[in-house]
Amino acid sequence: MSPWTSAEFDAHEQVCHFTDKRSGLQAIVAIHSTARGAAVGGTRFKAYPSAEHALDDALRLSRAMSYKTALADMPAGGGKAVIWGDPARIKSKALLHAYGDFLNRIGTVFVTGQDVGMTAADIETIREVSPFVGGTATGAGDTAIHTADGLIHGLKAVLERKFGRSDFDGVRLAIQGLGAVGMDLAAKLHAQGARLVVADIDDAAVRKAVGIFGAIVLKSEDIHRAEVDIFSPCALGGGLTPQSAAEIRAAAVAGSANNQLASAEAGEILARRGILYAPDYVVNAGGVISSLEEYFTIPGRQASEAPPLQQRLARIHARLAEIFDRSEIEGTRPEITAETMGKELIGR
Ligand code: NAI
Repeated sequence: MSPWTSAEFDAHEQVCHFTDKRSGLQAIVAIHSTARGAAVGGTRFKAYPSAEHALDDALRLSRAMSYKTALADMPAGGGKAVIWGDPARIKSKALLHAYGDFLNRIGTVFVTGQDVGMTAADIETIREVSPFVGGTATGAGDTAIHTADGLIHGLKAVLERKFGRSDFDGVRLAIQGLGAVGMDLAAKLHAQGARLVVADIDDAAVRKAVGIFGAIVLKSEDIHRAEVDIFSPCALGGGLTPQSAAEIRAAAVAGSANNQLASAEAGEILARRGILYAPDYVVNAGGVISSLEEYFTIPGRQASEAPPLQQRLARIHARLAEIFDRSEIEGTRPEITAETMGKELIGR
């Protein structure tokens, strides 16, 4: 197993493997690019089927972080960490501290935070031994709220492009997943006059959305087919398959879920059917954008001139409009255009 032979390798600047036998820690930190600043990226704690899977995930996700931070106008680069193992079985204070010690060895070029399998409390535990963590209560607060705010800006760019308007009054949206982001998004859209269709596997969340927002409920497996203006996937990634892409009735897809397109073919089908796709890592960048204040407090980072948080979140609107414009001019799909622009912004 070597980063250089992985299909996901993309001239990553640095890849570090860590082992701590005593606590059972096996971790990989992949730093894709520091062209714009220290790499940022969450730590994913997962029982990968093999070390190769863990490495591939770190390489793939860190590359996506480079594009995400660049397109979000952040003076930061892209990285990602994975801890290999079942968090329910092996996560311990000793393991998290060993991980923090390793982060200290990498030093100022990588800053990490929460991802799948890690909680805010885990990040606080790592902070006991390492300053190279962010995205906790000490920063701008709950990232989900900022992600939902950013998504609202992205949805406005979608509305303008598809419907020639930027207000939500009477607009019909289907939200799949009423978790931290989806529920807050629903509240914000409802307050602005949108009509909501929702689905979640958690009945309590669905009842709440019906009670407070008067939402219509569909089964999770049916919501992508809802007769609405915009479909917003806010649950898990990989939901846009060739089959579901062929069934969507909305004019556009824009949601917070990471890695929504299960394959390039799904994106092609959306484009062929005239359904506008807002690249996920552009519209869901609100969380990482909100981490900027805290990022400047990390050792080795100097605060630079940055507009206030709300202005930074609002830039998602302009960035998305730019991607849609360029897609139209060049005849490429938005997800391809976003990647091209991300590469250009990091000098690749
Ligand atoms: P969450 O875990 O709070 O919410 C996910 C919701 O989806 C839960 O209510 C869950 O019951 C529901 N769900 C799971 N499987 C489902 C299914 N098959 N059908 C319908 N609902 C289902 O997660 P959160 O924080 O709201 O994030 C949502 C998505 O946005 C995730 O993909 C996450 O990676 C992504 N994201 C979140 C950010 C954040 O700041 N929280 C930032 C960027 C992306």
